[in-house]
Amino acid sequence: PLSRSVSMTSLSGLPPWEDEGLPVEDLLLFEVAWEVTNKVGGIYTVIQTKSKITVDEWGENYFLMGPYYEHNCKTQVEVCEAPNPAIKKTMDCLSSSGCQVRFGRWLIEGCPYVILFDIGAAAWNLDRWKGEFWDTCGIGLPFHDREANDALIFGSMVAWFFKELQDMPNVIAHFHEWQAGAGLILCRSRKVPMATIFTTHATLLGRYLCAGNVDFYNNLDKFNIDKEAGDRQIYHRYCLERAAVHCSHVFSTVSQITAVEADHILHRKPDVVTPNGLNVKKFSAMHEFQNLHSTNKAKIQEFVRGHFYGHLDFNLEKTLYFFIAGRYEFSNKGADIFLESLSRLNYLLRVHKSDMTVVVFFIMPAKTNNFNVETLKGQAVRKQLWDTAHSVKEKFGKRLYESLLKGEIPDMNKILDRDDFTIMKRAIYATQRHSLPPVTTHNMLEDSTDPILSNVRRIGLFNARTDRVKVVFHPEFLSSTSPLLPMDYEEFVRGCHLGVFPSYYEPWGYTPGECTVMGIPSVTTNLSGFGCFVEEHVSDPAAYGIYIVDRRFRAADESCNQLTHFMFAFCQQTRRQRIIQRNRTERLSDLLDWKYLGRVSTDMNFFFFYTHTLSETACPKWGCPEPEPNPATHGTRLEGEGTHPGRDATPSQGTPQAGLEPQTHQRAGTGQTRCATAPPHYQSKEKQLINVCCLCIIKV
Ligand code: UDP
Ligand code: G6P
Ligand code: GLC
Repeated sequence: PLSRSVSMTSLSGLPPWEDEGLPVEDLLLFEVAWEVTNKVGGIYTVIQTKSKITVDEWGENYFLMGPYYEHNCKTQVEVCEAPNPAIKKTMDCLSSSGCQVRFGRWLIEGCPYVILFDIGAAAWNLDRWKGEFWDTCGIGLPFHDREANDALIFGSMVAWFFKELQDMPNVIAHFHEWQAGAGLILCRSRKVPMATIFTTHATLLGRYLCAGNVDFYNNLDKFNIDKEAGDRQIYHRYCLERAAVHCSHVFSTVSQITAVEADHILHRKPDVVTPNGLNVKKFSAMHEFQNLHSTNKAKIQEFVRGHFYGHLDFNLEKTLYFFIAGRYEFSNKGADIFLESLSRLNYLLRVHKSDMTVVVFFIMPAKTNNFNVETLKGQAVRKQLWDTAHSVKEKFGKRLYESLLKGEIPDMNKILDRDDFTIMKRAIYATQRHSLPPVTTHNMLEDSTDPILSNVRRIGLFNARTDRVKVVFHPEFLSSTSPLLPMDYEEFVRGCHLGVFPSYYEPWGYTPGECTVMGIPSVTTNLSGFGCFVEEHVSDPAAYGIYIVDRRFRAADESCNQLTHFMFAFCQQTRRQRIIQRNRTERLSDLLDWKYLGRVSTDMNFFFFYTHTLSETACPKWGCPEPEPNPATHGTRLEGEGTHPGRDATPSQGTPQAGLEPQTHQRAGTGQTRCATAPPHYQSKEKQLINVCCLCIIKV
């Protein structure tokens, strides 16, 4: 078994990751993230889609850790006893001290084990844990930041868990994003013997700066990051994130563009970039995905019939469905340039007298107070028309049948009586409306200031009869149990024609890739991790239904023109061309599969990574003298006076590493880098990360 005495080479003489028989059975792998069983955005997708392949590799030794929410647990988790005695003992220990920890199997592919920590039930410890956190690393969390406080409670429980898990010496923990960062910092400061990985899916400051319409990428090296974080009242979060990054043995991110950003904003170059994959399902019948497009489009058409009742003067056979979806970050997700381009597209379709109509869905969750009456009424009216048609059809059929039985062809003018006509006329009269079909499906809580609605008002896309582009804003993620649009997200995507994701800030961006694997073309940008990845690996992305808007080297107005051009050209395609394009799009799926992405060494040089991770040069902090915590610097922040205290909070002076890293001094001293062979190309990313961690353990 792997133990601290194992040498750097295995019996076969190969480095451990090259040896087929790497004894991973004796290692426990934990993955810690706020989005475990808790859907917020793409991190949930990362973990969920990767779970099957990770369970295949790690079996009973793989555990996910996340926050406990009653609803999530009830709907997604099969609660059971922990089969591993060490885990059970640790959980019992936490429970006996008043913490509530649940164990179970997450009902997704692979059914991984999950350990869920009840934040609410442990909240009474918050003040004490805040104090401990401050003593550990000089980061103080203000009381009003609920999210950061919850992250600390979560992290404190996770760190406590690992501290108690003493029976298992070989532990690797992979933490995702700043919300899981506190756990990592506390584990390291308490000298818990384990190897740690931290993956960032964005930088906090990057997200905030971009949302504020800053020219981010041209000024990456110019920002005074402490000041910027202070100005945005996120200094404490930023310190937490940066501390986690610097405390981890292995630091990774999801794309090259975010790696550069992290280097500038968090002052550490990621050791490895692991592009996000998907769990691609192949159908036995090649064209099944085309059939699925058809059946799901029919469902969307039903919704559209109801939503646009009384205004259905456009041909549904010549209507295309475009959409944008994701967390509601208006400008980061490019909803701003999308709306502007839609206005231009509307103009172009009108002046060219196009017979095509485009219905555009915005699927972005916002604060609402349920569906609005007008939208529900639309579906009720459609249902009533359907029922009327159905009952008249029944009568018609019955009379026709009786007539045929008598050997007569019925008189078509008499087969329906006056009552039937009355019912039909009344049903038609019910479809009259005095308002335009609504733009939004819900009652918005912040209607007057909502950025999508404000821009719709500005450009005047109100679903008028003359508009060739219609807008439907559905401010909630989709669900198959919705009374309005009963489809889950996957079904919806399959039924659409084009996903449009013109993001400005997008470390990866799952949505266009999800379109690709379902055979649906999409628009992305050269500022999204996904777009850059595709540009690098596919010679003519547009031919495969991936349109990449240039947001890096063009002004916003030019990007709008480019996007408008893509959409207008798309509208000019014939059905046959669309079908052919979907076939080509779907062919790219394999490139995005974890099975493939996990194995091909793309943009990382493992050899470089390995040797440098373990050497002093790449991790100068390992050789650094321990800096003194500087409470004064952070104290000012705690007062919340809007000053930016951390002017001098560089990695060596400020909070991130304060008081940490005694073990790593030894590690730096050993500095063994006996990797003599070429980088391994055929191991999953998770395994590659893990192998580096194994080496960290070995060397402790
Ligand atoms: N999504 C969803 N339901 C919806 C709309 C979106 O589950 O109705 C998911 C989508 O499948 C994707 C995720 O939300 O996996 C968004 O991830 P992405 O990486 O694109 O962006 P993020 O929100 O993490 O910034
Ligand atoms: C799929 C179906 C076809 C259908 C087509 C509609 O390919 O297999 O039967 O005609 O979708 O494509 P469209 O792009 O017009 O929605
Ligand atoms: C973050 C990013 C998104 C990425 C996701 C998964 O939420 O905003 O771009 O796809 O994480 O890595």
